[in-house]
Amino acid sequence: MPHTGHPRDISDARLAAELLKAEHPELLYELVELARESFGFFSQCTSHLLTNPWFADALTELAPGDHLLDMGSGLGPVPVWAARRGVNVTCVDSHPVVRAYPIQDDWTEWGYFDYATISNQMRSFNVSVDKYKSKLTYSAISSVCVFSHIARSQRDHIIHQYAHRLRAGGIFCIAVDLLAGTNFIWNRADKKVVAPPEEHGSITDLLSPMMDAGLVIERLEVFRNIKDRPDLFMVAGRKPQ
Ligand SMILES: C[S@@+](CC[C@H](N)C(=O)[O-])C[C@H]1O[C@@H](n2cnc3c(N)ncnc32)[C@H](O)[C@@H]1O
Repeated sequence: MPHTGHPRDISDARLAAELLKAEHPELLYELVELARESFGFFSQCTSHLLTNPWFADALTELAPGDHLLDMGSGLGPVPVWAARRGVNVTCVDSHPVVRAYPIQDDWTEWGYFDYATISNQMRSFNVSVDKYKSKLTYSAISSVCVFSHIARSQRDHIIHQYAHRLRAGGIFCIAVDLLAGTNFIWNRADKKVVAPPEEHGSITDLLSPMMDAGLVIERLEVFRNIKDRPDLFMVAGRKPQ
């Protein structure tokens, strides 16, 4: 599918250049197609060119019938990509703005979207992730650029609570923005400061609750000097068998 004309959609020229340097061009291409089909755009923001294929790659082990919980889904292609593989996907997002079809020019990655309108493999809950209640055991949990907007004590609690909801061998993947040139977690939500950087915490303060909850850190990557964007940290931890 070519450029959709949506104001947020990546241009075809940019996409071609990004595919040439991508670590997983086939995944990136598939994710762009799915995002354009589902939401009318694949974000031209560089962070999304990094996070989406990274998460899809980390989640390729999921098999049909597995269950993925995606926290703070907004409008992103990874949950749709997993559902296309037969994975049952639960999406949770607390945003007050509900994005419902038809696609609008003002749609962004932020908002509550009911993924059940795309696939019956998916369901969505318009609730804060700490308030979401479920008795399911998950094969994987993903959280793409959400925890930076959540206060540290709540973040620690969510990581702890959900690490315990993973099945043995399950994987917990997290991406957070970082204040540029530092290891401090991005500390703004909707342009408001959540807490001063030292209080909001650093990479170490994200890894500690993961390890305390018994997760074994498998992948860990920091991206710096992203054009017009904060730095980015991505980590995947696995619950031992
Ligand atoms: C930067 S967007 C990321 C969207 C998507 N994960 C992506 O990577 O494109 C952050 C999303 O997290 C959601 N969010 C923030 N805090 C949340 C919370 N406590 N519970 C559920 N969703 C939350 C916001 O509403 C928003 O849609």
